[in-house]
Amino acid sequence: MTIDELVAQAQAARQRAYAPYSNFGVGAALLTRDGRVFTGCNVENASYGLTVCAERIAVFKAVSEGCHDFAAIAVVSDTGATPCGACRQVLVEFGVDQVIVAYADGRHTIFTLDELAPHAFDSHHLT
Ligand code: THU
Repeated sequence: MTIDELVAQAQAARQRAYAPYSNFGVGAALLTRDGRVFTGCNVENASYGLTVCAERIAVFKAVSEGCHDFAAIAVVSDTGATPCGACRQVLVEFGVDQVIVAYADGRHTIFTLDELAPHAFDSHHLT
């Protein structure tokens, strides 16, 4: 799985975004260490606050299927948006080597989670 292939899967997932309120579609594709891909799109709600981002949907789909080990996540939007704070925190929970932030046309930048969520709260603070 190349980075471009993962971005392509996120682009496809973005087509399924349910975003009638913001009209801002986001797609995500999460690559597990054993080579599986879980995709997600943002799913909005008339109550606004119940909206779930594309990244969290991809992570929760993977975890609910028993996958916890992640190599990379690609996130695609029109404006090359980086994951929101809530999604960064959820990604910190499991870890991921590369966060690929892409525009709709595929141009992308690769970040580490440490760059996006430095000094994040995690499980070691609870022990
Ligand atoms: N959104 C995501 O799906 N991921 C992010 O990291 C940022 C925001 C969605 C939520 C909402 O449906 C729309 O983008 C506008 O905020």
